[in-house]
Amino acid sequence: MNSSVKRSASIVLAFLMVAMAAILLSSSEATGSPAFDVATLFKAKCAACHGADGSGNTVMGKKLKVRDLRSADVQGQSDAQLTAVISKGKGKMPPYEKSLNQQQVQELVAFIRKLAG
Ligand code: HEC
Repeated sequence: MNSSVKRSASIVLAFLMVAMAAILLSSSEATGSPAFDVATLFKAKCAACHGADGSGNTVMGKKLKVRDLRSADVQGQSDAQLTAVISKGKGKMPPYEKSLNQQQVQELVAFIRKLAG
């Protein structure tokens, strides 16, 4: 083997290693992040009435007299009850079973639990 063949072989090898590293990095990123960001979803769909922090301290929230999602009244309800309100709606609360899938509703319930700290 002359030296120019050796050099091109090592260039190919270096290229392969960079490509492998890129593939490994991108696949670990893909598995590490959820399919959607629940905080963004809450902000987009719920915060107008419930407030980004769940307090209900918004113009709409006050008008509709929403309860603080962090309060004992709300947190005292079961996951199934909260899921039902989000899916089916209740009073002035719109139903979301058509626009959100089950996983999204579940993540929103978990998000509401997290808001309470
Ligand atoms: C148009 C305003 C509005 C929007 C938008 C809205 N809500 Fe509500 N939500 C309400 C009202 C009003 C209630 C109180 C319903 C009742 O008890 O009569 C409520 C109640 C709830 C409850 C039950 C808490 C309780 O008071 O017992 C949960 C949980 C909830 N909302 C979650 C959500 C989530 C999650 C979203 C976004 C996907 C959302 N809401 C979007 C107005 C809204």
